[in-house]
Amino acid sequence: MRASKARFLIVGGDSGIGAALSLAVAARGNAVLNTSRKRDAGNFHLDLADMSGMPEPEGEFSCAFICAARSGFADCEQYPHDTFRVNVEGTLAVARALLEKGCFVVFLSSSAVFDGSAPWPNEFSEPHPTTEYGRQKAAAEKRLIELDEGRGLVAIVRLTKVLTETTPAIARFSEHIRNKASFEAFSDLRFSPLSLRYVVESLLKIASMKAGGVFHLSGDSELSYADFAKRMAAGMNVDPGLVGDTNSSSLQIHFRPKFPGLGMARTAETIGLKPEPLDIMIEGLLAGHRQPWQ
Ligand SMILES: NC(=O)c1ccc[n+]([C@@H]2O[C@H](COP(=O)([O-])OP(=O)(O)OC[C@H]3O[C@@H](n4cnc5c(N)ncnc54)[C@H](OP(=O)(O)O)[C@@H]3O)[C@@H](O)[C@H]2O)c1
Repeated sequence: MRASKARFLIVGGDSGIGAALSLAVAARGNAVLNTSRKRDAGNFHLDLADMSGMPEPEGEFSCAFICAARSGFADCEQYPHDTFRVNVEGTLAVARALLEKGCFVVFLSSSAVFDGSAPWPNEFSEPHPTTEYGRQKAAAEKRLIELDEGRGLVAIVRLTKVLTETTPAIARFSEHIRNKASFEAFSDLRFSPLSLRYVVESLLKIASMKAGGVFHLSGDSELSYADFAKRMAAGMNVDPGLVGDTNSSSLQIHFRPKFPGLGMARTAETIGLKPEPLDIMIEGLLAGHRQPWQ
């Protein structure tokens, strides 16, 4: 007798990460339902800003990924009430309904729950957000853990910065490097980049183990955008001297972590996931790696 395949729900199946997850889940032969706030055929319509009389998707799900969010730092600063309604209230309403049915819920959170002032905060470090986006993620996390009531049905997964070929800064760097044209990149803004491939595979591993609690996904390195651009140039056999350093201080950037990376001790011990090595991350980005679901 064949084991029945799991059924997944992706809340925000048209987000960058949600869409990739949805393809990966389907490629593994599982059933998947995506929600979207657009009224597309094939998707289940769900607007986290308006959960009154929310219709519930029919049937049971073994796992749901909550990817939908208003995730812009500036958007959250400018519209704290509207974004709170989506990122906290809407998120909790959908999670509550899923948890009542015993569904395992994976919530995508962010390293912005920390202030970035201490190196490699781990899964047990106390959140200390300094931005509205980070405060909303921290508030949603806290209330999701309360809703779980110790059952281990909620995984909170905090991510550092996810990069793809279409991330605007990366697309700009690539174009200049390909054209061997000099350009500038921020030397005072640091991140700990992750590939979409690593994030998708890691989320699926956490879901397959149905392990609850807080997990971190981070790169193994912290570097500036300028240093990242130089690494890209070297990887494309182009002189890294094309990349000039510039300063972002004239721009209103809400999250400027001195230490953007996350410690992954618990995630490594519980799930066996290690930080993504920078070399591999850049190699995959430059190779336009085929994604695991293709
Ligand atoms: N990407 C990263 O580097 C990163 C890092 C840390 C954490 N995260 C978290 O990971 C999750 C996914 O990130 P992402 O980069 O894939 O996100 P994204 O590309 O910004 O997509 C956000 C998704 O949420 C949807 N959404 C916005 N408002 C909504 C509403 N009222 N109701 C329903 N859906 C709504 C958007 O729909 P529309 O397309 O219709 O606007 C979009 O599909 C987010 O929770 C984000 O905070 C991402």
